[in-house]
Amino acid sequence: MTPSTTTPATDLFAQVLRQDRRADPYPCYAQLRRDPVVRMDDGTWLVSGYREIRQLLHDPRSSADRRDPQNKAPQAARSLLMQDPPLHDQLRRVVTEEFVPRVMGMRDHLGDLVSGLLDAHISDRPGRLDVVADLAYPLPVTVICELLGVPREDEALFGSIARRLTRGLDPVDTQTEEELRELDQARNELIQYLEGLITERRAEPGSDLLSGLMFHQDPDDVMGPIQLRVTLGLLLIAGHETTVNLIANGTLALLRNPDALARLRADPDLATPLVEEVLRYDPPVQMSGRSALADIDLGGTTIPEGSRIRLLLAAGNRDATRFEDPDRFVPDRRDNAHLGFGGGIHYCIGATLARAEAQIALTALARRLRSPRLVADPPPYRENAILRGPEKLLVAFDGLAPDGR
Ligand code: HEM
Repeated sequence: MTPSTTTPATDLFAQVLRQDRRADPYPCYAQLRRDPVVRMDDGTWLVSGYREIRQLLHDPRSSADRRDPQNKAPQAARSLLMQDPPLHDQLRRVVTEEFVPRVMGMRDHLGDLVSGLLDAHISDRPGRLDVVADLAYPLPVTVICELLGVPREDEALFGSIARRLTRGLDPVDTQTEEELRELDQARNELIQYLEGLITERRAEPGSDLLSGLMFHQDPDDVMGPIQLRVTLGLLLIAGHETTVNLIANGTLALLRNPDALARLRADPDLATPLVEEVLRYDPPVQMSGRSALADIDLGGTTIPEGSRIRLLLAAGNRDATRFEDPDRFVPDRRDNAHLGFGGGIHYCIGATLARAEAQIALTALARRLRSPRLVADPPPYRENAILRGPEKLLVAFDGLAPDGR
């Protein structure tokens, strides 16, 4: 046997990124957690323990800016996700003030959208549904497009751009030249598309989020023309490519746990803790990044100033020192302060919306599909390691119950 020249952590993380591990990276995370703060050969630190991740999410010395050395964009051209205070907080205030009121009171509308999608794709007869293509993907696409004010006929174009951009979130060294070119192309398409929309709104403002962001009365004046485009790009990807995985991962968990499915069918209130459990057990955003602005003592180790850090949120969510029986899916788990939406100042702005979409979609699937079962288990997965989820999720069923909302 040739001796390995790489450290176990480096090998394990390489495995997490490998496509053939995508369906179940959790055994790799479990091995990584034996050493919850560890340096890889390239100098990046991996943090996989729940408490250590939380500590970093709340530590002002762990910077979201410069988390990615490949990102050469100037400060003003980075989204709030990649900014530190004070600019982060100023941008976040603008986005929150415009975004949050527009998603309040959307639940009924979300219910109508879910019903419409199910009715359109499935008949009363025995059939098959691809939960990703028929429900989990179109629902958040429609919602974010409606919020932003993207016309319905452009949704498909918008969706295709977002899909291609998402691949850009994976580590650059896992991408081919072709993929990087493709990414540039998608970025250009997005910019061009947004230019058109912005010009229209400038001439005729609407009540949509785009108009809100463009004309926001902001004493700090942080939402300039470049930042506006960057924020829209962030909302687009965040809105499309995360919720799809929450709904698909939730469906998978339900179909693998028939008791949970039966309980949800009988009691829609279970949807609230159940969706939290999906966010813990199989989170759509598996990891995030930071860099150390100073030496940081963490769990008995010092991460030196200037280091890149990967926070393995999905690993922290299965930490047995924090969660009882962490590898079990417990639909009504209590004390479930998972890391699925991050934490600290970058805590997900879309959490309420994403939760509502998933609660409504999963409840509708549980109530309406008769005897649903997975056609392939595990299903095929998308390439993305960070925003991770099934490519396709075929479900066979014996008929569709009427929408008894
Ligand atoms: C299931 C769905 C979602 C999941 C799992 C998710 C997860 C996350 C996570 C983990 C973060 C923190 C990243 C970090 O600290 O580095 C984050 C931030 C963010 N999310 Fe979400 N997200 C979801 C849906 C959404 C939606 C629907 C939107 C809006 C349309 C959204 C908008 C944002 C924004 C703007 C931030 C940046 C906040 C900041 O930097 O202050 N997310 N999300």
